[in-house]
Amino acid sequence: MDQKLFRYDIVAEDPTTHARAGVLHTPHGDIETPIFMPVGTKATVKGVPWETVKELGAQIVLSNTYHLAMRPGADLIEEMGGLHDFMNWHGPILTDSGGFQVFSHGDAVKLTDDGVRFIATDYDGSHVFWTPEDNMAIAQKLGSDICMQLDQCPGYPATRKFVERAVELSSMWAERCYKAHTRPDQALFGIVQGGMHLDLRLRSLRHLEECGDFPGYGIGGYSVGEDHETMFETLAPLASEHMPRTKPRYLMGVGNPTTLVRGVACGIDMFDCVLPTRTGRMGSAFSSEGRLNFRNAKFARDPRPVDERCTCPVCTGGYSRAHIRHMITQKEMLGGILLSMHNIYYLLNLMKEARQAIIEGRYGAFVRDWMDSPAAADY
Ligand code: GUN
Ligand code: ZN
Repeated sequence: MDQKLFRYDIVAEDPTTHARAGVLHTPHGDIETPIFMPVGTKATVKGVPWETVKELGAQIVLSNTYHLAMRPGADLIEEMGGLHDFMNWHGPILTDSGGFQVFSHGDAVKLTDDGVRFIATDYDGSHVFWTPEDNMAIAQKLGSDICMQLDQCPGYPATRKFVERAVELSSMWAERCYKAHTRPDQALFGIVQGGMHLDLRLRSLRHLEECGDFPGYGIGGYSVGEDHETMFETLAPLASEHMPRTKPRYLMGVGNPTTLVRGVACGIDMFDCVLPTRTGRMGSAFSSEGRLNFRNAKFARDPRPVDERCTCPVCTGGYSRAHIRHMITQKEMLGGILLSMHNIYYLLNLMKEARQAIIEGRYGAFVRDWMDSPAAADY
């Protein structure tokens, strides 16, 4: 990897929390951190055209190596000019490795030192065996700006022994990914595992640091069934005291607004989650009043926008709660699309406001105000 292409500049550090504001450079553009990354697992943010994703303020989007390798295949995408051209998003892209699918496939996955076997994939029930080298070959064909190592994400609860083994395997695979990754215009991030055990998290981090000079670190294995306080017990010391200051820190798969606000205070720079789009499609919206469920009959005659404090194209575009509730209950697809748009904007805007507060040295007050607000209530 060409280090110059992926410089991470820290622009400001908050005086009373561990929050920082930065700029991560990539070959397809700069990313202002802290940042939320909308998820386009299968090369599309479900229901939302790219012009709109951009208009909402997205600076980088996520996609997934496992899903794209299954359909339409990495060779096809390479033939179509790589993932940016194939999906028509020309900004930065981060591809996750498939480590999370190891978790979500449960018993349909078998792990060995050498790699992961998907016994019955969720596409056609076929067997697929991947080594870390295979995973890197796919990521390099896709040509995302940032790719993630192959890892094992243990669930919660899990025995210490199980988590220890996941750390061991993920460390081994990190080393093999690091050696196999040669594409100069793509950055490879390592992933810290270790469940809810701080000593295992630190062991995982140390392995990664010994393995090489990763340009950034994912923090995986959270939001897998534990409650928020359990997560912060290990995440807070890990991120704020132990991770290298000069590298971007990416908390994987976490998208609850309050977790973003608290995560930034611990020094997290990047987040992704399907929450805004998945819950949007189901009729749920983030708002300054807390989570709103548009299946609720109380919105049937409500002429107000989704959130009166929101400046997204949906809330400023004349769509009423009554109309959106009607579309959601009638399964009209525009309802889910509009709520996906609003929810994505909400998280992007939250991180934009957080960044401004960090730059102005008032992030501590920002967190306190947030925690006292109705928006934090249904965390
Ligand atoms: N997405 C959310 N958590 C994880 C994780 O632990 N590993 C990977 N690869 N992706 C994730
Ligand atoms: Zn809105």
